[in-house]
Amino acid sequence: MIPEFDLVIRGGTIATSGDIFDADIGIRDGKIVALGLDLARGQDEIDATGRLVLPGGVDAHCHFDQPTLDGSVMADDFVSGPRSAAFGGTTTVIPFASQKKGESLRAAVDDYHRRAHDKSVIDYAFHLIVTDPTPQVLGQELPALIREGYTSFKIYTTYDDLKLNDREIIEVLALSRREGALTMVHAENSDAIAWLTEALERAGQTAPRHHADARPAIAEREATHRVISLAEIVDVAMLVVHVSGGEAMDQIAAARAKGLRVFAETCPQYILLTADDLDLDGFEGAKHICSPPPRDTASQKSVWRGLANGTFQVFSSDHAPFKFDSDTGKKLHGEGASFAHVPNGIPGVETRLPLLFSEGVGKGRISLNQFVALTATNPARLYGLYPRKGTIAIGADADLAIWNQTREVKITNDMLHHNVDYTPYEGRTVTGWPETVLSRGAVVVRDGRLMAERGHGQFLKCGAPDLQL
Ligand code: URP
Ligand code: ZN
Ligand code: ZN
Repeated sequence: MIPEFDLVIRGGTIATSGDIFDADIGIRDGKIVALGLDLARGQDEIDATGRLVLPGGVDAHCHFDQPTLDGSVMADDFVSGPRSAAFGGTTTVIPFASQKKGESLRAAVDDYHRRAHDKSVIDYAFHLIVTDPTPQVLGQELPALIREGYTSFKIYTTYDDLKLNDREIIEVLALSRREGALTMVHAENSDAIAWLTEALERAGQTAPRHHADARPAIAEREATHRVISLAEIVDVAMLVVHVSGGEAMDQIAAARAKGLRVFAETCPQYILLTADDLDLDGFEGAKHICSPPPRDTASQKSVWRGLANGTFQVFSSDHAPFKFDSDTGKKLHGEGASFAHVPNGIPGVETRLPLLFSEGVGKGRISLNQFVALTATNPARLYGLYPRKGTIAIGADADLAIWNQTREVKITNDMLHHNVDYTPYEGRTVTGWPETVLSRGAVVVRDGRLMAERGHGQFLKCGAPDLQL
């Protein structure tokens, strides 16, 4: 007799964003087709007794093989980035196809598909980065791309080669309203940062720690307030990415209290690092240069509060991988370079889920359901991948992570699977680790070994954002 299921995951405790219950999971053709007790035997079986079975994570903010303009090179491509994500319990990644000013958006998307083709072990979608919203881009390219499954795009208020002015931001927001897409905003005041940077450099204050002085919380607060105001004028939803602390959060919470559809994302660096981590001996602090910068312990507490009280809907890695000891990474301009010339970004795609599980669920700061919502269900909903991704339900893809919730793991860079030569979380011990990870019913990671071939991952077209969060 042919077994009813290709695979049964038996005896685990399932957690979704809304429920926790004991059930077996029956999988056929890569989909979840049954949830129940004592399911019939499958062709294969995984014993999950005593384990948690969670939806695979959706990392909605990571950078892989993204071209840069300053000669730096991202350390992770579509082989090592998604591989590292999978080892950390993530089964869907959404990196960025970034438009260069003067280039068409379509060219950026085509280039990014070439970079990703046949490499990823897990499924992936693309956000777009819009840097040059010409009439052609806004009138033709972007509407066509949205219809083809690229329904979210990031815009910047900072970085000379990326930033938009207020009029351009309004035009992009208006386009996202017309076409039913979601705009993500990097909110920091560019001119304030430029003025502070020049003053610091004139005073010879160029060590990595001054990166935090050049990009203060006020600059983030101002830009957050401004983009929320612009979205209110246009009457459209938007999402603020990588929010670092209470100043910007207050703007977001006030907007939400008014009924505006403002969504927000935060990242591991804002609950676990502070500006002191930029003040390590020599050039070591450059490892932690990212924007916005990590702030202080009061900001960490604010971010935890926001994760628990719903100010944040999404917890992403913002994995932006640059090697430390490399002239295409953090040392692009040498060890004595000003902070202003150090590539921005830190790695974290593999450690995102274990860190939040251990520090959040393990320490009672957030519930297990909130953990699933923040790391899988909400990003899948906001970026139009739900219910195929981000949940455990009949008909969903069998993207699952089986967690040993009591296993203690000391994080070291040696044990990670990215291509970066450091982790900001070196030596930190976490409790809870995803031991078995499945993508569309296929085991990708088991007991520390990669089981899937590169190219197993498929490109995902995103649908309309679900803004009912
Ligand atoms: O410093 C950061 N966050 N680098 C990555 C690019 C971005 O702005 O997200
Ligand atoms: Zn950003
Ligand atoms: Zn980023």
